[in-house]
Amino acid sequence: MKTIIANWKMNVGVRESVALARGTLLALRGRRILPEVVICPPFIALSEVHKVVARSVVFLGAQNLFWEDHGAYTGEISGRMLTELGVSHVIVGHSERREYLGETDEMIRNKVTQALANQLNVIMCVGETASERKSGEQRERVRTQLVHVFAGVRLKSHERLMIAYEPVWAIGTGEIPEVAEVLAMNEYIRSILTDVLPEMDANKIRVLYGGSVEGNNAYSFLREQKIDGLLVGGASVKLNQLKEIIDATSEVLDAQKSL
Ligand code: 13P
Repeated sequence: MKTIIANWKMNVGVRESVALARGTLLALRGRRILPEVVICPPFIALSEVHKVVARSVVFLGAQNLFWEDHGAYTGEISGRMLTELGVSHVIVGHSERREYLGETDEMIRNKVTQALANQLNVIMCVGETASERKSGEQRERVRTQLVHVFAGVRLKSHERLMIAYEPVWAIGTGEIPEVAEVLAMNEYIRSILTDVLPEMDANKIRVLYGGSVEGNNAYSFLREQKIDGLLVGGASVKLNQLKEIIDATSEVLDAQKSL
């Protein structure tokens, strides 16, 4: 199985989101084996997009949630509210929220806990900045994020969690790491997960890659068995790019099937 997550960020409004959702469904039509696809529109479009993808193979994801169920938290949206809209997945700990909104590992832990309590599937992002990479601290950074976020978190099923390795320097820059680097980091992430979530089989937790994924580089990541899928930003709001990424996924899935 491969998972493709489309993070539309703050790039599209309601009308464009609906059109993109329809386009995504069309791009999946007629395929022998389907990848798991999760689309994450902005909050304001969730309700309309749900109407498009309800009863389809595409899952609806949110880009964020708050760590309380309800209360005086102006501007925030809870996990419970998201499930009311048909949302099944939520992105947590994205580096853009860490950078621009000051999200800390502790906040992210509370969000993960809240998401799990509401039966949402968590897509938790980790990754190092350019300077951390330059000074060779990428592993330490990712380890710290995972240890801080999952301390005390109880996960009932490995299916509820995906980790997206998104090096910050690769997001929206057109720069991508070597596939071998991603593979090594994925293995490292699984070794940390074995420690922090001892009740889980870390090999079963999906680890995705994200950062400047496009139609022309998706295959090189997807063909690796240990890369469970992709978290796609900019290219996911361009239907031709998204289609190429889905084509690459189908190619890999079809090849795996015929082995
Ligand atoms: P880009 O694909 O635009 O680099 O963004 C990646 C990302 O941040 C997905 O969450």
